[in-house]
Amino acid sequence: MADHEHWQLDASTPELYERYLVPAITSIWAADLLDRIPLRPNETVLDIACGTGAVIRLAATRAQGGRLVGLDLNSAMLAVARAAAQTGPPIEWVEGSALDLPFPAKSVDVVFCQLGLQFFPDRPLALREMRRVLRPGGRVGLSVYSAIERTPAAYAFVQALDQHLGASASRTKRAEHVFPDPEEIKSLLSEVGFHHVDVATVTKQIEFPSMLDYVRFQLIATPMAALLRDKSPTERDRAIHAMATDAASRIDPAMLHNGKLSFPQKSHVAIAGG
Ligand SMILES: C[S@@+](CC[C@H](N)C(=O)[O-])C[C@H]1O[C@@H](n2cnc3c(N)ncnc32)[C@H](O)[C@@H]1O
Repeated sequence: MADHEHWQLDASTPELYERYLVPAITSIWAADLLDRIPLRPNETVLDIACGTGAVIRLAATRAQGGRLVGLDLNSAMLAVARAAAQTGPPIEWVEGSALDLPFPAKSVDVVFCQLGLQFFPDRPLALREMRRVLRPGGRVGLSVYSAIERTPAAYAFVQALDQHLGASASRTKRAEHVFPDPEEIKSLLSEVGFHHVDVATVTKQIEFPSMLDYVRFQLIATPMAALLRDKSPTERDRAIHAMATDAASRIDPAMLHNGKLSFPQKSHVAIAGG
């Protein structure tokens, strides 16, 4: 990919998230999650913190009838989701909070929540809400990243961020990785009454054309875009190149074969019954 081809700040952060991070990262986790919870005919499926819809759009390709709903707090993410889902089975897009689900009790067969739980200000409340809306016999599937040290590119990136932009620059990225211990997720789910809780720590190999792409997409296609917002395009580009060079020096060279970045990413994937 030529340098200029993807450096498109004219698009919104959610558009860039959908264009670069969904194909490289979240669609891979979405496929894993859906493989663990096969959908049955005519089920109601709710994807909480759906973002641009990676999980529920894939669910739509596997569903056999039923109702498909994506819910997110962020209307800009939902707008991109809606545009991306113009073909295929209909999906309802709902702006709302995981802490106060706008659905009646026992009305949903399957709840998904991919890479969302770590951002909720009251996680037990969000899990109680998931349980409330599930029908008896319903299933929940959720995932969160593990400790940041277990995803080498992310760990190298946060160290480079702090080095170049100041000690607290990596706070947002580190917040994605607040669950080092799978047992904590198991306890959270069990404490709100879920049954048959199973939490697996799963590894996926993630690939980007280069470390520069990885660093750039993190900094243009996520809320971390705010870190560089006050800089001119030239300053921004210089900072991204400097951080990419720094991050590349911090990871095992075997993960940068011919310049292409390929690294393991570990997430905790939880499956439970309502
Ligand atoms: C990292 S994105 C994950 C999006 C999507 N699940 C995926 O895998 O691509 C996290 C999402 O959580 C949403 N979110 C954060 N807090 C939320 C809340 N309290 N209720 C609903 N959504 C929330 C954000 O708006 C964002 O779209």
